[in-house]
Amino acid sequence: MKRIAAFTLLGGVLLMPDLSPSLSAQPAFVNTLMPQPAHLNVGSGALAWNTTVTVGVPHFRDQRLEGGLERTLEQMERKTGVPRQREIGNSSTATLVVDVDGAGDAVQSFEEDESYSLTVSATDVKLHAATVVGAMRGLTTLTQLVQTDGKEFFVPAVQIEDTPRFRWRGLMIDAGRHFEPVEVIKRNLDAMAAVKLNVFHWHLTEDQGFRIESKLYPRLTGVGSDGLYYTQDEAREIVAYARARGIRVVPEFDMPGHTRSWLVGYPELSSDPGPYTIRREFGVEQVAMDPTKESTYEFIDAFIGEMAAIFPDAYLHLGGDETPGTQWKNNPRVVEFMHSHHFTNTEELQTYFSQRVLAIAKKHGKHMVGWDEILNPALPTDAIIHSWRGAKSLYDAAQRGYQGILSQPYYLDHMKSTEEYYLADPLPANTTLTAEQGKLVLGGEACMWGEHVNELSIDSRIWPRTAAIAERFWSPASTRDVDDMYRRLWAESLRIEAVAGTTHLMHEGAALRELAGTENIDALRVFSSYLQPVPFGERYRGQHTSQLTSLDNLIDAVRPDPPSRHAMTVLVRDLLKQPGTNNPARAELNRIFQSWISAAPVIEDQMNHSPLLAVARPRVEQMAKLGQTGQQALGYLAGKKKAPAGWQKKNLAEIEAARKSQALVLFTFIDPLEQMVKAVK
Ligand code: ACM
Repeated sequence: MKRIAAFTLLGGVLLMPDLSPSLSAQPAFVNTLMPQPAHLNVGSGALAWNTTVTVGVPHFRDQRLEGGLERTLEQMERKTGVPRQREIGNSSTATLVVDVDGAGDAVQSFEEDESYSLTVSATDVKLHAATVVGAMRGLTTLTQLVQTDGKEFFVPAVQIEDTPRFRWRGLMIDAGRHFEPVEVIKRNLDAMAAVKLNVFHWHLTEDQGFRIESKLYPRLTGVGSDGLYYTQDEAREIVAYARARGIRVVPEFDMPGHTRSWLVGYPELSSDPGPYTIRREFGVEQVAMDPTKESTYEFIDAFIGEMAAIFPDAYLHLGGDETPGTQWKNNPRVVEFMHSHHFTNTEELQTYFSQRVLAIAKKHGKHMVGWDEILNPALPTDAIIHSWRGAKSLYDAAQRGYQGILSQPYYLDHMKSTEEYYLADPLPANTTLTAEQGKLVLGGEACMWGEHVNELSIDSRIWPRTAAIAERFWSPASTRDVDDMYRRLWAESLRIEAVAGTTHLMHEGAALRELAGTENIDALRVFSSYLQPVPFGERYRGQHTSQLTSLDNLIDAVRPDPPSRHAMTVLVRDLLKQPGTNNPARAELNRIFQSWISAAPVIEDQMNHSPLLAVARPRVEQMAKLGQTGQQALGYLAGKKKAPAGWQKKNLAEIEAARKSQALVLFTFIDPLEQMVKAVK
């Protein structure tokens, strides 16, 4: 906007304008962008975001661009409280000018140009992109730039030239083990757009449920879904919703293994007659489709033809994982087929199957993605290899000329810290791939498997950790500062909940209120904020989980890698630089330890009325005890008193005991607390 226009002569009196940020103290730019852009120059000054902002789209425009722009303006309104501009004109001298060359791909591909340039000055914002998707990426950055000096909102002057490092930046959601309603998918698509992810990999079929309507084969959902599935109209709605946000939808129909739900209605797809029921247990299933019968391929051909009309993306994910071939080995007819084809093992038989389904996909105009089990010299190189058992398969594939995507380090149910996901790089600096082979690494996907999530808890397992993974996929390889990532992650986490309506933060409070049966959860929140869920395997083995297991325990309420873990690490790092002085880290740690001690009796009282909470009683007792340990360590580190003989040994043993899970939850502070105790002389 034109700041000068704010100097208004009224009745001959020069009214001084309200000293807005762009004219006053030149507010400092605080970078909370996530993902970080490829190139960022910080200018001086800032554009005040107020009602005088006008919007112009001088060149190309279409409905998708207008929709993206309207969502952006709405987000700006919600962020700033400034009513949004309702008119999108065509002026190239508007405050916000969105200059786009053209629509981009008719069906978004991984070749889509997502780059943009964004220039903010004290007077205007100029966004330029070759495509609508590029423009949407730039608009997302604009919403992340908004900040406040405590009085007004402004957009700091910056010059950004941005383009993604990887072309395939995905999130996989498994709707098979637990069904996820349409609104869950939509809010996660909004969250994906907020961090510039561009592939929604929709895992639609599993042993535990068949989740997409087939009109050709109605018994697939009729008896294979418990009535929980997406209609074809809903699937089209999701595809359109994703496209409007610059996100591709790659559906997965996992085969020949993980197919027990198909066999409930169509047992003839397997080599054994059945009958089959929906599998409730998790883990690897022994049954599979029969790769020897032509009727299997006729079924798949018709089914894929039906699905190809619903999902416009050039790629279909056809699974291929975890097929032990037990049924095949035990069936004389299948064994005879293997002999006659000179297959010496079931892997070769599966490759035969992969070749057949790849040809079927091709017939319907689609390419195939498959989990890394499909990698075999006999497979054509136009299949994309999806690496999940180790990054090695990705690099082997690239050396043999296959394109690939990496998921092995990005399994969200492993409950690793954001930091660990963040530092895992699809193409690390020490890669042995040549530059040409490196180009075959298309990117990666975060994977949200569905065994242990339902519609209430899923967002808290995906976000905000996936925002850091999104940065790994988008930003330059050199963007690796973990402290800075966490600083920006907490800002991004709030933004995602605000703009996407995800429940990753609010779920914890709601779940704790339900567990405690009261709104009074202040003490419980102290406890839960220092807890995190055990990894997938530990829960699976510890609780013998199945699809029928209730997901309403303390473990389902608490968040993976909550802010306390990294915060404690930093506080103890700061403390141990000057352990004897009174500094902010010491004061904060003392406050934290006291909060554990004070919260414990309140929580223990609540546990008397809640059996689901009471299982964690030993954990609360440990927290209070370790709070005392922490306060004692602070005292000894101050050097006024010496720790008595045996103090360190005894407390280290207690810390070690507390490192183990109890009630399927882990403490977030064990390592830094241990460091403090070890530092006591
Ligand atoms: C997989 O995790 N079975 C791909």
